[in-house]
Amino acid sequence: MKKYLITGCAGFIGSNFVYYMLKKHEDIQLVNLDKLTYAGNLENLKGVEGDARHIFVQGDVCDKALVQKLFAQYDFDCVINFAAESHVDRSITNPEIFVATNVMGTVNLLQCAKEAWQQGGGWAPGKKYLQVSTDEVYGSLGADGFFTETTPLCPHSPYSSSKASADLFVMAYHDTYGMPVNITRCSNNYGPYQFPEKLIPLMINNAKHHKSLPVYGDGMNVRDWLYVEDHCKAIDMVAEGGRDGEVYNVGGHNERPNIFIVQTILSQLHDQLGDEEIGENLIQHVTDRLGHDRRYGIDPAKIRAELGWYPETSFELGIVKTINWYLAHEDWMENVTSGNYQKYYDEMYKNR
Ligand code: NAD
Ligand code: TYD
Repeated sequence: MKKYLITGCAGFIGSNFVYYMLKKHEDIQLVNLDKLTYAGNLENLKGVEGDARHIFVQGDVCDKALVQKLFAQYDFDCVINFAAESHVDRSITNPEIFVATNVMGTVNLLQCAKEAWQQGGGWAPGKKYLQVSTDEVYGSLGADGFFTETTPLCPHSPYSSSKASADLFVMAYHDTYGMPVNITRCSNNYGPYQFPEKLIPLMINNAKHHKSLPVYGDGMNVRDWLYVEDHCKAIDMVAEGGRDGEVYNVGGHNERPNIFIVQTILSQLHDQLGDEEIGENLIQHVTDRLGHDRRYGIDPAKIRAELGWYPETSFELGIVKTINWYLAHEDWMENVTSGNYQKYYDEMYKNR
């Protein structure tokens, strides 16, 4: 039975990964270490309650004693690090926590894995550390071309800088100690269980409640949208078959300007709910994000050629599935937007 330490899996991508893995693999053990920040929610894991293959541990990836204890208890074969502070806007107002979790947390996991897996002069067989990273470490593209795995790192935001730093530490553990590692760098994910501070769930939620839709700047920034289940499949494939020490970019090959995403959500919701108040009059162009990267885009040629992965879900299908999921999960939305959400929202948008 393969044993995984997975971190941050009460959040968006991690919770989807738990569902994906338990459906796909009969004989696995997932130990899910999550601090339950504002972005982590046990509601996201309701569907696996009672499944003994998933064990939830509340805790911080920076807590060395706890991570060491988990390694001693479970003898993990694989670590997959999803845990992070993940929101660019928050990193602009409060960068320190991004260094703590994203950089120090990653180094702590690497060090604990090294202590557990290094035997004599070598490494215990069959082990792997997989870092879930982002295409934002490459910076911003002009009108042409795509990021590849050899594009130089050129992060701009405190968030992407912290993720790039973490990636460098992962490679340092590989190059210095010979640790078996992979890094995946994906484009913007969308789908169920995404916290509504990110573009797609935020716009769905606001439009449904006839609130204004804050589009940063001219709305022509481009993101490459990847359906979250496709991303989960890619991570599983890299964990299983990725070549030691390699980086794999994971992209939807699905670039859209933000304004197109917002217009698509509005027209879909308008038609589906038959609500005449949902229309483009809700769009409000607000002050641009500081240092806003213009364009991200990935051609996932390497992972396709080496592992046979490609994005299976078209944007047209994925966005309909996503909107339907949020419409069918009003309780979830109410739950995650209770507490400090409104305070955060008001703070974030009061000066825009
Ligand atoms: P998320 O914000 O939804 O979830 C992050 C999870 O990490 C939460 O459950 C939170 O409680 C947990 N966490 C935060 N700090 C922690 C700590 N110190 N110790 C333990 N747990 C902690 O993020 P997400 O969108 O699911 O992203 C997951 C990973 O994928 C991140 O590493 C992110 O950088 C990367 N990524 C995300 C996207 C995207 O579009 N969402 C794109 C590229 C890369
Ligand atoms: P986001 O979902 O925050 O992801 P990232 O910054 O990691 O790409 O934002 C996606 C794009 O949408 C980005 O160009 C910023 C823009 N955006 C808005 O225009 N309005 C918003 O309210 C948000 C949250 C994002």
